[in-house]
Amino acid sequence: MHYAQLTGSFFLLPCILTASACVTPNPTPAAFTDFNDNIFFFPAANAVQWKTLYARSLQLADESLLMTWENYPAEPPLVSHPIYRSVDGGATYSNFSSIKDQVNGWGMRFQPFLYTLPQAFGGYPVGTLLAAGVSAPESLVGGVYIDLYVSKDSAKTWSFVSHIAYGAGPETITSGNAALWEPFLMMYDGLLVCYFSDQRDPAHSQKLSHVTTNNLLTWSAPVNDVAYSAYNDRPGMTTVAYIASTGEYIMTYEYCGSANCAVHYKTASNPLNFNAATGIALVGNDTAHTVPYGSPYVIWTPNPASASGSGVIIVSSGSLEPVLINGDSANPSGWEVLDVGQWSAYSRSLRIITTPAVKH
Ligand SMILES: *[C@@H]1O[C@H](CO)[C@@H](O)[C@H](O)[C@H]1NC(C)=O
Ligand SMILES: *[C@@H]1O[C@H](CO)[C@@H](O)[C@H](O)[C@H]1NC(C)=O
Repeated sequence: MHYAQLTGSFFLLPCILTASACVTPNPTPAAFTDFNDNIFFFPAANAVQWKTLYARSLQLADESLLMTWENYPAEPPLVSHPIYRSVDGGATYSNFSSIKDQVNGWGMRFQPFLYTLPQAFGGYPVGTLLAAGVSAPESLVGGVYIDLYVSKDSAKTWSFVSHIAYGAGPETITSGNAALWEPFLMMYDGLLVCYFSDQRDPAHSQKLSHVTTNNLLTWSAPVNDVAYSAYNDRPGMTTVAYIASTGEYIMTYEYCGSANCAVHYKTASNPLNFNAATGIALVGNDTAHTVPYGSPYVIWTPNPASASGSGVIIVSSGSLEPVLINGDSANPSGWEVLDVGQWSAYSRSLRIITTPAVKH
């Protein structure tokens, strides 16, 4: 059996001065149970910004869970991407390791992403852990890399592998700045793909691109996934899921600019050719026609009770507490709004996890 775990970073701006007084009493879930809103990390009191963003998870073969996120400690030392680990199904976490910049002297600053190699690849065995993240100077001026790190010891230690992409910066959202954001890794057809948000093309304030590698060391030229003709349109934040029952892929993104960051999606049989697919606005099929805005995340999971192998597409957004779910065809009128009782947050992530308590 599986259950879905939804992890959100939190952002409690009104609570900066009196944080402890503002936070809802934390639940203390039992190991391997279902729960919501379980806080396990607060920034240090002297953090430059008292928040975290882009929480991302991974489950290892031993069923432990890893979490990482973007944070803003006072520097030095240079910012790194934390790795916290849970061995009780996410009820409690403790600090485990950290992905530190080993090559740029800038720190691992933004948008970490964790991935497990589903096959032997690039000289590493199946099950090897990969981490992508954005490395940029604290000043945000002087360049930006999306970098790839690997762990051969279940996240205890990390080593630099390659630069996935480079931009000249500055690393800000100002149009014309050659910035890079939000890597998302996925294997397809013997290639590792890295999707990301790309401000380097002078024809677009921002577009969505991907690059591929067949050896983890050298990466292809960028290929468009979403690029709108209006310069100020800013599609952002690619995530992709494989729908095993249909063999199709779905990507979600926010369509900022003329669509006010409304969540959109594309489907394609070839996830290297999303550019040829038409983006569809994702709208709930409730009577209110609920529209999710900003920072979407998509997964697909098979339904263990389905003999045909069909399942469910699950989409989270930044603006809603509920998630939106759909059948495997991603029918535009099939997006059901489903309350899951979890706070909304900027760039929540989703993962199906297994637990010993419910395994057969
Ligand atoms: C967590 O552990 C790592 C590795 O031991 C260390 O570098 C880092 O400073 C620790 N983080 C915190 C918040 O204690
Ligand atoms: C919404 O879509 C779901 C399928 O995901 C379907 O079961 C449900 O009937 C739809 N609701 C409405 C009001 O159309």
